[in-house]
Amino acid sequence: KILILDFGSQYTQLIARAVREANVYCEIIPFHKEFTYEKGLKGIILSGSPFSVNEENAPNVDIADMIQHIPVLGVCYGAQLTAKNFGGRVDKSNKREYGRARLEVLKEDQLLSGISKGSQVWMSHSDSIVTLPDEFEITAITESIPVAAFKKMTTDTCPLYGIQFHPEVYHSTEGKKIIHNFLVNICGCSQDWTPASFVHETVEELKKQIGNHHVIMALSGGVDSTVAATLISKAIGNRLHGIFVDNGVLRKDEFQQVLDTYKTIGLNVTGIDAKDLFYDEFKDKTDPEAKRKVIGRLFIDVFQEEAKKVAGVKFLGQGTIYPDVIESVSVHGPSQTIKSHHNVGGLPDTMHLDLVEPLRYLFKDEVRKVGLEMGIPADMINRHPFPGPGLAIRILGEVTAEKVALLQAADDIYIKALKSHNLYSQVWQAGAILLPVKSVGVMGDERTYEFTVALRAVTSVDGMTADWAHLPYEFLAHVSNEIINNVRGINRVVYDISSKPPATIEWE
Ligand code: XMP
Repeated sequence: KILILDFGSQYTQLIARAVREANVYCEIIPFHKEFTYEKGLKGIILSGSPFSVNEENAPNVDIADMIQHIPVLGVCYGAQLTAKNFGGRVDKSNKREYGRARLEVLKEDQLLSGISKGSQVWMSHSDSIVTLPDEFEITAITESIPVAAFKKMTTDTCPLYGIQFHPEVYHSTEGKKIIHNFLVNICGCSQDWTPASFVHETVEELKKQIGNHHVIMALSGGVDSTVAATLISKAIGNRLHGIFVDNGVLRKDEFQQVLDTYKTIGLNVTGIDAKDLFYDEFKDKTDPEAKRKVIGRLFIDVFQEEAKKVAGVKFLGQGTIYPDVIESVSVHGPSQTIKSHHNVGGLPDTMHLDLVEPLRYLFKDEVRKVGLEMGIPADMINRHPFPGPGLAIRILGEVTAEKVALLQAADDIYIKALKSHNLYSQVWQAGAILLPVKSVGVMGDERTYEFTVALRAVTSVDGMTADWAHLPYEFLAHVSNEIINNVRGINRVVYDISSKPPATIEWE
């Protein structure tokens, strides 16, 4: 295992993902959190940071002590902190360095082994290391900075390296190789953390954690809950009781299709048709927050009612993933607002159930790989995200069964077309939105006065920021025609060209 000490850089999670991609397990912890040098801990990576090492309250750690135990690699701020702590000097550079730089390797050591001449690296810093401590050696430079990489020469401790650039970002073309070198050449990691080994180990741990007890779990048809449930099911079989609720605002035929898939995977899931209950409560509700609250509340009611029917339940399964639980370091000061853990299930504590969260340490792409490893159909694994409140937040204004049917029909045409034109996997999320706008149209000789549908498709990495997807005009023309010709009640289709921010992905 590798520990990544987070000093608040926006790229810290990318370091973790790069390490995991090399099949080495790692965890991110805030820099000030205590840890032990347990067996199996092979190395430490110090992240970047929005701070300057020369600021008064700059975050600091005892690197000299760390290298008494295991190898350390400092990245950006981590490298500057290393230089400073051992007696070097870091100054504000007269030239800020952001973006592309070319690395000139002076000494091909274990860290920089195999890196090409002039390799592109990505910089993001305004301080520079100007003098290294005595017992350190410069191993690479760039045109604009005198110290791009260094190592500690003395061998009385474990190895210590620093790099000024960010190897974890996409634009550092050989960054992954450098991280690999650190993990394998320097820390001696064995690269055996694979989806298969994760499944094996997790199932064993779940067996121990759950014992002979029963687990209930709300399933949504989404990737995370499906993969989590499958792991739990592998451990305890039908003592997992999944509950999948039809809230009346799922996609067309989704309820049945998802239940069928669960059956294929072998999950013990009960489908609950609660459509009417939801439709009753949607009446006269037009405010987005009011709609969301109704859905949240009813869902919990239905779930608890079902849960009561399962005797002797001790655990609640959840599909919480790593980005939901990483403690982040605030950029406003290390001692302020450290976010606390939160889980995504939203089910009340009053149920007095212990949590089972087998995906707690996985990133989304890893969840997908684990899912495929367990034989979950690729269709299910590669589904776009779909919001908990479903189509209710894509029908602006009051939600009725009729409007749901209209939107389901339009959305189905759109999503199927994305798939058949091989565009589905190129966008991060897509869906149709039913606007509370009627306009005049003409069909044959007849005047129409019908609803408008907006199509939304975005590219994104994590849903936090997003750009509208530049879908081909021919494709949009095709979908528009299909919807207007096939869905009675819709006579106009528009395409949403707003990015997030300032817009959001969903309209409500
Ligand atoms: P926004 O609209 O905030 O959406 O840009 C970002 C991502 O979050 C999804 N979303 C939700 N997911 N429950 C969910 O499970 C919700 O209440 C919810 N609201 C938005 C949205 O679909 C997008 O992927």
